[in-house]
Amino acid sequence: MAQKILLTGGAGYIGSHTYIALIEAGYNVVIIDDFSNSKRDVIERLENISGTPVTFYEGSVLDEELLNKIFEKEKIDAVIHFAARKAVGESTEIPLDYFTTNIGGLLTVLNVMRAHGTHRLVFSSSATVYGEPDIAPTPETADRRYENPYGYTKISGEQILEQLSAADECWNFGILRYFNPAGAHPSALIGEDPDGIPNNLMPYIAKVATGELDRLGVFGDDYATPDGTGVRDYIHVCDLATAHVLSLQALFTQGKGHLTNIGTGVGYSVLEMLRAYSAAVGRDLPHQILPRRAGDVPIYLAKADRAKSILGFEARYSLDDMCTTSWAWIEHSQK
Ligand code: WQD
Repeated sequence: MAQKILLTGGAGYIGSHTYIALIEAGYNVVIIDDFSNSKRDVIERLENISGTPVTFYEGSVLDEELLNKIFEKEKIDAVIHFAARKAVGESTEIPLDYFTTNIGGLLTVLNVMRAHGTHRLVFSSSATVYGEPDIAPTPETADRRYENPYGYTKISGEQILEQLSAADECWNFGILRYFNPAGAHPSALIGEDPDGIPNNLMPYIAKVATGELDRLGVFGDDYATPDGTGVRDYIHVCDLATAHVLSLQALFTQGKGHLTNIGTGVGYSVLEMLRAYSAAVGRDLPHQILPRRAGDVPIYLAKADRAKSILGFEARYSLDDMCTTSWAWIEHSQK
């Protein structure tokens, strides 16, 4: 009997792509999502891609009663926990909401798991736990330092899981530190779909390409990088989804937890991203140089060899794939 996996936040950008990867890997999957940062019609689109009905529950990971009902009804074997708030800037404006959702939500899920004898969870962490890293590429052994409430909630989440599994070996956790997800599913039916003006680079460039935004504001061109603009380790969201399947499989087969970066180890600058996206769209996209954005660091790069040795993970998609799949998704969603 195929194992049944609960995806919290499974209608979101990374959650929805991971849903498809899990179905393709033969798992049964249940989604819980409150649609606070995702759209309800993702469910139908997931059914179109997978060709099977989606089992989902609308609600928050803070709703212990709902989570208990799901565990009683669905017999969950493991959880992949995506549901969280994830905007650095917003976290400085509403820190208590970030603590409540990101830390309170994790604790609620863990308590319900314990009540039902489920002890495997993959945790959505972030390179943001490194703060301003001392070295790049950054290894998992680098110090954790938070520089905003969002980063604090990710470090706290990691520490809670570390303490829990140290106290009781029945718990097995896969902690995945994402770098910069980008791109969309090759079907062009799901992709990154932020509300309002995007914080992140690729969805912002996409809105310049559609004409919704006038030009890309490049936050600083005086960093110590090859062209002066910020360098990041972008990873295709489908590669990221694959990493979650491998992490889950490792929890079942290795019988112990792991903590790994999930990135490519290759960095691209803002201007390189803009050029790559322009090539995917087929015309130059306008930009202007603006002052640096508060809190930005010059370079974020993953040391990616632990994910390969522990999970057998290697990124397959290229920068061009990220841009062309993103643009195909945008064009499809504009229809
Ligand atoms: C990338 C580069 C900007 C927008 C954030 C979160 C991190 C993680 C990933 C959740 C930087 C530049 C951006 C724009 C620009 N999220 N940029 N103009 O900041 O690396 O990471 O998303 O886990 O926690 O902090 O991603 O896409 O915002 O920025 O010049 O309009 O693009 O300065 O160099 P970031 P980003």
